[in-house]
This record gives sequence, C-alpha cells and structure tokens, in this order.
Amino acid sequence: MNHRKTPIALFGAGAIGRTHIDRLQRSDRASLAGIADPTEGGRAAAEAAGVPWFADHRALLEAVRPAGAIIATPNATHVSIALDCLSQGVAVLVEKPVADTVVDAERLVAAEAQYRVPVLIGHHRRHNPVIRRAREIVSAGRLGRIVAVNALATFLKPDSYFETSWRRQHGGGPVLINLIHDIDLLRFLVGEIESVQAVDSHATRGFEVEDSAAAVLRFSGGAIGTVIVSDCVTAPWCWDFCAGESPAYPRQTVQSHFIAGTHGSLSLPDLALWQYPGERGWHEELTREQSVVHQRDPYERQLAHFADLIEGRETDSLCSALDGMRTLAATRAVLEAAAKAPLASDTLTLPVNEGRNES
Ligand SMILES: NC(=O)c1ccc[n+]([C@@H]2O[C@H](COP(=O)([O-])OP(=O)(O)OC[C@H]3O[C@@H](n4cnc5c(N)ncnc54)[C@H](O)[C@@H]3O)[C@@H](O)[C@H]2O)c1
Repeated sequence: MNHRKTPIALFGAGAIGRTHIDRLQRSDRASLAGIADPTEGGRAAAEAAGVPWFADHRALLEAVRPAGAIIATPNATHVSIALDCLSQGVAVLVEKPVADTVVDAERLVAAEAQYRVPVLIGHHRRHNPVIRRAREIVSAGRLGRIVAVNALATFLKPDSYFETSWRRQHGGGPVLINLIHDIDLLRFLVGEIESVQAVDSHATRGFEVEDSAAAVLRFSGGAIGTVIVSDCVTAPWCWDFCAGESPAYPRQTVQSHFIAGTHGSLSLPDLALWQYPGERGWHEELTREQSVVHQRDPYERQLAHFADLIEGRETDSLCSALDGMRTLAATRAVLEAAAKAPLASDTLTLPVNEGRNES
C-alpha cells in the first residue's frame, strides 16, 4: 500500500480556498504542499497550516514542484494560472467557473488536449453521492426517455452581501454565481443544452445585476426544461438548502430538481423515483421508491478524485475543461438571451387591467 500523500498546492486562500485547505489537511490521500496568495490573509493561512507561502504561483511551482494545484483565485485568473501549471506537468483542479469567458475557457480546453495532464473543474456537486446515484438511475433507463426537467434556485442573500461593489454589477449576479451549478447538474444528468431562452429581472433590488432570472432550455436528447434563480426571495427551494452539503445553510427538507421521463420521474435531492408498476396512465397508482445513499462531503470526494487522476488510478476527469466550458457557455447564454429578450416578434403580450376579474 502506498502511504505517500500526493502533494497539492493551493493558489488563492480566500473563502473557498479555506475549504480546500481544510479538506487537504484532513485527507489521507493528499497533502497541502504550499500556498500562493499575495495577501496578508494568504500568508497567515500558510503560517497557520505550517506550509511554505509565496506571493506568486510561479515562484511556488518553481520551489515546491507539487504534483497538483488547486486554483481558487478570481475567475479571470483561472486560465492563465492553469496554463502555467499544465505546461510544467502539474495537474489542476480549477474552481468554477472554468473561466470568465468562453473564449478564455477554449484556451484551457486546447491545453488539456495538448499536455495530457489531468484537469478537473470544481463543479463539486458532481461528486455528491446523491448526484452519482441519480446519474445511475437515469443511465439505467429507469425514467425512460427524459421529457421535461425543472430546477429551482431560490433563496435570500442578506443586504450585507451587496456591500461588495462587483456583486451589484453585471456578471456578479446569481446566474453566473449560483445558477451555473444547477446548469452543470442538469448537463451532468440530462445531457447537452442545445438552446436557451431567458428573461431576467432587476425589479426587486434595483441593481445593475439581475436579482432573478428564468430560462427555458432545450436539451440535445429532446428534453425541455425550465430553471429559475432568485436571490431576493424568502424561499427554501435550492440545492444548497436541501442537499445539506454545507452547515453554513440551515437544512430544509424540500426538493429543488425534478426530472420527468416517459417511464418514471425523479426528484432531488430526496432521490424519489415515481413509476407505474403495471398499467400506465393518470388513473393508475404511482409508486414512490426512494434510494438512500450515504451522505459524503463532495469537496472531500472531489479531492480524492483529483488525487486518483494525478496518480493514474482514474483516467477520466469527472469534470473536464470541455465540460466546464460547456457549462459556462450555457450559463452565459442565459444572461445573453435575457439581454436580447424578448424580441417583439417572439412575444405574446397579454392585456393587463382589462379583465373582469380585477378586485
Ligand atoms: N465550488 C464552490 O462551491 C465555490 C464556492 C465559492 C467560490 N468558488 C469559486 O472559487 C473562486 C474564488 O472564490 P472565493 O469566493 O474564494 O474568492 P475570494 O475573493 O474569497 O478569494 C480569492 C483569493 O485569491 C487570491 N488571489 C487573487 N489573485 C491571485 C493570484 N494571482 N494568485 C494567488 N492568489 C490570488 C486573493 O487574494 C483571495 O485571497 C472563484 O472562481 C469562485 O467562483 C467556488
């Protein structure tokens, strides 16, 4: 048995960087080899962890020569740092979103193919046992052909969240920060997203950035879907509340994702599978079968998968650069479609205040 832990460096010791430090310190597979982050906070984190600190990731790569690196820096820096690593044979776990723009993400996709060094994008939900079981159920054909899906991401961000100015500006909103996780989850379970229509709203907070958005998706397999994100509502329906991945959010026993097929449907995260045991039709009784999986921390499992990729125990990245790019493209398409929509010719405008039912 190999007891040597895989040495992994961390670039960016901010909010999610601290989660990675914690998981690396608790891992029996990987170890924290050093931290690069130019701030005092970065230096303090390295000191607290007892590992070497560097202001610049290139200096760390040169001095420490880790086997892998976790890139938990601001989005716009992801690709250039990842390219520095890959060109030196250092595997990368790049936080989501893979990049700021799809064009930038394409550079990483090309490098992934060129260097043949493992790339894993940090869409951590893919590592959650609930999602893995859901994928098994879907792949086994238990839903038949998937026809319609729905995802809800509704929650209330406190006013203090918006004291940071970029969170009030275009690109800093719930579509790119939150909905991207749901889009990735749907891509993982249902398949490629082929087209997107969307509307957004700024009406509640009144900031430049959207506070809510609704999108209609068409998947390449023929399924259609709707997704709603809102960060200004008092509501429990979102993965972060009901999946219990983080103790930072009080847990709610509701569902956030619904996948309906010709022969069965599945809700998440409760993994309830609805089917007709005999005759099929709306007058017949549906059965409800629930899968139970061991709850495991997806960040811990993501790290173990990263170590497996580095050590060659796994060859297929559960979320490649290409996957990350496609998820980013579909998510950006929601914002772009909302900015264009609605074209007058595509819109049916209904009469308001002319009905007889006004109270
Ligand atoms: N997977 C998840 O659940 C999840 C959750 C939160 C954030 N994220 C992603 O993680 C990334 C970081 O987000 P955050 O909330 O931790 O941000 P943050 O601002 O809290 O932390 C970013 C850190 O990176 C450091 N940094 C900036 N430029 C650097 C560079 N060139 N080299 C090294 N360090 C540098 C900053 O000093 C800061 O400490 C973002 O891409 C974000 O989308 C993912």
